[in-house]
Amino acid sequence: MDFVDIPLNKATRLLNHGPLVLVSTTDGQTANACAVAWCAPAGRDPARFVMILGQGHKTYQDLKATGDCVLNLPTADALEQVMVCGKKSGHDGDKLGPAGIELLPSQKVQSPRLACCSAWIETRLWAEPKWDEAGPSLLVVEAVAASCRPGLMSEEHFVDLARFPTLHHLGSNRFVLPGEEIQA
Ligand SMILES: Cc1cc2nc3c(=O)[nH]c(=O)nc-3n(C[C@H](O)[C@H](O)[C@H](O)COP(=O)(O)O)c2cc1C
Repeated sequence: MDFVDIPLNKATRLLNHGPLVLVSTTDGQTANACAVAWCAPAGRDPARFVMILGQGHKTYQDLKATGDCVLNLPTADALEQVMVCGKKSGHDGDKLGPAGIELLPSQKVQSPRLACCSAWIETRLWAEPKWDEAGPSLLVVEAVAASCRPGLMSEEHFVDLARFPTLHHLGSNRFVLPGEEIQA
């Protein structure tokens, strides 16, 4: 599949507008992915991202074991795959293969990219700030490679949301698509 590289200092532009991502990992044998609505940029250069992940998720455990993951950016046509990743657990076996979710090798990390998505940020775990309360974990990951489908990013490195409508989670099974772009 064709893709183009994105300069690392422009990788935050892929998530600046708050879309849902699929976080893909591997345990060394089987690839996995989960839906993550709570993911956001946290630094431009180096490009860092924060996300909230349940510690019981297979994705969390894979990420902690290998130290890397890919933030995959789905668009509206991948809604079905998003719900597979968000409703099934890799603890119960491979959820990607049976759902026809194809894998692409990554450029810099062992976690694969998901072919059903339109942009990919390959990351390594940078920090996991701790606090004295049980619950989901805050993870900070740093981009080591970024790529997208041709045309997704303009020459000025803005996402073309008319051609590549990302998914924005309202809660439960409800999403909105990006609206009209305005300039200040
Ligand atoms: C639309 C959607 C958004 C989600 N967002 C998050 C999130 O931000 N953080 C999180 O920990 N889990 C989130 N989840 C839940 C996980 O994706 C889900 O529990 C998944 O089955 C975990 O899979 P795993 O055990 O294979 O890692 C979301 C689920 C859906 C459907």
